[in-house]
Amino acid sequence: MTRRAVCPGSFDPPTFGHLDIFTRASAMFDEVIVAVGVNPSKSKRLFTAEERMEMITEVTAPLGNVRVQAFTGLVTDFCVEIDAQAIVKGLRGGNDYEYELPMAQMNSHLTGVETVFVPANASWGYVSSSLVKEVATLGGDVSALVPPAVHARLTLRLAERAAGTG
Ligand code: PNS
Repeated sequence: MTRRAVCPGSFDPPTFGHLDIFTRASAMFDEVIVAVGVNPSKSKRLFTAEERMEMITEVTAPLGNVRVQAFTGLVTDFCVEIDAQAIVKGLRGGNDYEYELPMAQMNSHLTGVETVFVPANASWGYVSSSLVKEVATLGGDVSALVPPAVHARLTLRLAERAAGTG
């Protein structure tokens, strides 16, 4: 049996915190599918789903057993569709746990899929996509918080936004 896990998220943009979780999931499972949520009602994304998928594909390529797919609807339906037995989520602290626990229990109720919680590496405990975007938009240095390929795209997109072209 192929042990397959799904790492769902919006990853707008992917950070070193996400990459750490993908890396650790890839060591625990035969195959990891990073599932990029496509939510049409969330129009305030900095990057399109395609751009987010390209960035994740690029930074996870060295891992060898990570694929990237878009998904809509329930994450449990996606897990059934691709025959994944587990969902892997990183936890930065108590707030993440409070938010994630009922979702894990609901997902277990729906299809019996397991959720594996991975404690965030302390280096990335304060890192989130939304804070990275906020700090970068206001001119702060986030170069140590996202992979270089992501940082390059972020810098470009914010310049496009500032110029009114992105
Ligand atoms: O935490 P994020 O990054 O905003 O997650 C985005 C996404 C799309 C992965 C998340 O909203 C999700 O899992 N949506 C699927 C909908 C679903 O399954 N809902 C029931 C959860 S119990």
